[in-house]
Amino acid sequence: MKILVTGAAGFIGSDLVLRLLERGDTVVGIDNHNDYYDPAIKEARLARHASHPRYTHLRIDLGDRRAIAAAFAEHRPQRVVNLAAQAGVRYSIENPLAYIDSNIVGFAHVLEGCRHNGVEHLVYASSSSVYGANTAMPFSVHDNVDHPLSLYAASKKANELMAHSYSHLYGLPTTGLRFFTVYGPWGRPDMALFKFAKAILDDKPIDVFNYGQHRRDFTYIDDIVEGVVRILDRPAPANPDWSGDRPDPGSSKAPWRVYNIGNNQPVALMDYIAALEEALGKVAKKNLLPLQAGDVPDTYANVDDLVEQFDYKPVTTIEDGIGRFVAWYRDYFKA
Ligand SMILES: NC(=O)c1ccc[n+]([C@@H]2O[C@H](COP(=O)([O-])OP(=O)(O)OC[C@H]3O[C@@H](n4cnc5c(N)ncnc54)[C@H](O)[C@@H]3O)[C@@H](O)[C@H]2O)c1
Repeated sequence: MKILVTGAAGFIGSDLVLRLLERGDTVVGIDNHNDYYDPAIKEARLARHASHPRYTHLRIDLGDRRAIAAAFAEHRPQRVVNLAAQAGVRYSIENPLAYIDSNIVGFAHVLEGCRHNGVEHLVYASSSSVYGANTAMPFSVHDNVDHPLSLYAASKKANELMAHSYSHLYGLPTTGLRFFTVYGPWGRPDMALFKFAKAILDDKPIDVFNYGQHRRDFTYIDDIVEGVVRILDRPAPANPDWSGDRPDPGSSKAPWRVYNIGNNQPVALMDYIAALEEALGKVAKKNLLPLQAGDVPDTYANVDDLVEQFDYKPVTTIEDGIGRFVAWYRDYFKA
């Protein structure tokens, strides 16, 4: 199959590209290599697949309407995975308009590309942050999610709504994936695990928000990629039982679905840090601080639909996952 992956130099995108190439797909990657975090790691991730004979890389911006339309028209991908986005909850308070440019305008260009080029399935990254002010745990895709706590979360919820309109109007099968805090080798330098590892190795204190009490459903990168591939292979079906009288928020009469991909096992931040200390063989100096604006206290994924429909559920334990992250980190930074 020919698959277009946006965000192909990103943490999740680059690993997904490797996996698709490994199984024989032809891949076109898009990324603008922006400097939200050190672009050197994007180049290093890309170097793993840039010269593969079945890989083409396009350094373009999702916000560039003409360039995106031309990429779709030239390459005519059968399936599309949209992972390019302005990520990060905290940065959305500092620079809200970056989220509108990439996540709203950019996503609209991807939808248009799919619509005009007969794409069979669009899979796109949503986020656990869409659960916002919800407190019923575990978070279910069948619950309403209309109370985002950051513009990042609002942009991801908006993607789900925009996708629905295209699934309804043009019969475009779309699946939104709500990822729960992804971590692992080649991860993002703006995320906690990466910052913590660097600070601990440099003998500097780490900032522990919410006094380390919040829980996250940390999900290992390989588990995310496995979930994305399984879902990509099965275009979203319409739900024949869906009723407008009692609308199920997780499916539709149109070929539109959303799924949680999370470990289904929330871990307290302090335990996550303890696993990192163990793997590094070093104790962290901790700066205990209150919860940050825009952050949700806990995340916990209900993955029943993933298990029932795809016979799949993330399995990697925090100890294994952090161990593999630390091994990679030490090797990559010679630390
Ligand atoms: N990592 C997580 O914990 C997590 C959790 C929930 C959701 N997500 C979502 O998953 C997706 C992938 O996340 P990631 O962790 O790999 O992030 P990432 O920042 O490493 O990857 C995103 C890539 O997209 C590129 N990009 C950003 N804006 C672009 C634009 N306008 N045009 C072209 N390229 C652009 C960036 O350069 C980057 O390489 C994102 O949509 C993110 O919001 C991630």
